[in-house]
Amino acid sequence: METITLLQPDDWHAHLRDGSALKRTVPDLAKQFARAICMPNLVPPVKTVDEALAYRERILAHVPQGLHFDPRMVLYFTDQTSPDEVAKIHASDYVNAIKLYPAGATTNSDNGVSDIRKVYAVIEQLEEYQVPLLLHGEVTHQHIDIFDREKRFLDEVLTPLLRQFPKLKLVLEHITTSEAATFVLEYDRNVAATITPQHLLFNRNDLLVGGVKPHFYCLPILKRQSHQQTLLEVATSGNPKFFLGTDSAPHARHAKENACGCAGCYSAPTAIELYAQAFDQVGKIERLEGFASHFGADFYGLPRNENSITLVKEDQVIPTALDYLDGEQIIPLYAGQTIAWRKV
Ligand code: NCD
Ligand code: ZN
Ligand code: ZN
Repeated sequence: METITLLQPDDWHAHLRDGSALKRTVPDLAKQFARAICMPNLVPPVKTVDEALAYRERILAHVPQGLHFDPRMVLYFTDQTSPDEVAKIHASDYVNAIKLYPAGATTNSDNGVSDIRKVYAVIEQLEEYQVPLLLHGEVTHQHIDIFDREKRFLDEVLTPLLRQFPKLKLVLEHITTSEAATFVLEYDRNVAATITPQHLLFNRNDLLVGGVKPHFYCLPILKRQSHQQTLLEVATSGNPKFFLGTDSAPHARHAKENACGCAGCYSAPTAIELYAQAFDQVGKIERLEGFASHFGADFYGLPRNENSITLVKEDQVIPTALDYLDGEQIIPLYAGQTIAWRKV
């Protein structure tokens, strides 16, 4: 039977939520990943280093006995973020970055930045201290087609931003288009991107053909197959600018299967196996370790993990539903389907 061993991977983009959600999300993630960037889009958002440290303690309280898990924290960028907060991030052992959500772009982004030019004073400090800026890269204007929102962000926001701050360390999160992949390739090592399992395995046909499949709905939305193809190429290319970020984003079943369903796919329970499936499908399983376990740590300037995990090529059926939020359910990504890899 085929097996592969890799350094334990990290997840550089995950939503753990708060309160009783942590009972589900923390064990699911900590069984696979040594570290995770814990996204700050809580209600209310995590805006200061002190709030991030308190949130980190709430996460740590749910790490199962015997597992080692190191939550890496991120602040939520608002119009009011003070330039002084950047030095505090830089000095912190546990906060690694700041996340910019354009206001209105995605789940819990109401307090996000209304116009990036208003916060250039903070960005100047980020460049100075080399603190990574993580971006949900979509414009939000009502008249821009949802399938074009990422590309428009590159042209209208990112290009001018990098012209002004060429040394800014930046992660374009959850990229979904060929244009975003090309954009990242054109810049220096300070510009990187995360890629989710759903954008490697699926495209908008999976979301829309034969009926709307709300559990495939996330933002940025799944694009056409040619974009999926490009993402597979760059993820499996061995280029260190592309690394693992699941964007695992839990929403209870009723909030997804709804006339106005929430955006987000819950991939945490089998994330590394889903990536193995994607890499293996294009004959590049040997490239998984760099993408999953080396390049993200290198970008963030953190040491690579030392322990390893093993995956076997053996069918596993993803559960159809899991318990969530004391009495509710959550439907994991690709629920009820069989994938060819299993973590031992
Ligand atoms: C995320 C969430 O639910 O928090 N949803 C999503 O569709 N990706 C937010 C985000 O990362 O944009
Ligand atoms: Zn996002
Ligand atoms: Zn996300």
